[in-house]
Amino acid sequence: MTFASVLVLNGPNLNLLGTREPAIYGSETLADVAQRCAQAGERLGLAIDFKQSNAEDRLIDWLHDARTNVDGIVINPAAYTHTSVALADALTAIAKPVIEVHISNAHKREAFRHHSFVSPIAEAVIVGCGTQGYVLALERMATLLKAGDRS
Ligand code: DQA
Repeated sequence: MTFASVLVLNGPNLNLLGTREPAIYGSETLADVAQRCAQAGERLGLAIDFKQSNAEDRLIDWLHDARTNVDGIVINPAAYTHTSVALADALTAIAKPVIEVHISNAHKREAFRHHSFVSPIAEAVIVGCGTQGYVLALERMATLLKAGDRS
């Protein structure tokens, strides 16, 4: 039984998880993360739509669809976190809770990763918890959606 639906959106290069800089991002693949999210969704009563794209316009189109299709958004915008006003604008246009996830602790890394265009829009930001961050984000999202706080 699900009571709400959540879009879990992944940005560029996250399709390479498991083989890309494993010392930073770990050995789980994106398919493993999708499975973790599906399991968390079952436990929490959330229908999960898990997507990844390397293309900014594709991510934005999915966010436009999310304005009517889903109750909340968990997003790892990857490098677009630090560069994309367009993605931030699309997230702002959605009157649904947004939780930002980063697998690594971006604040421990290069200075250009310290700024996020997404954080000011997000209800919560989870960084440096590895792929577990996605599960933590879904748990928080379930709490927010149960409380009826869909702003
Ligand atoms: C990331 C951190 C970003 O700085 C980087 O560009 C990524 C992944 C993370 O999950 O730690 O691609 O979002």
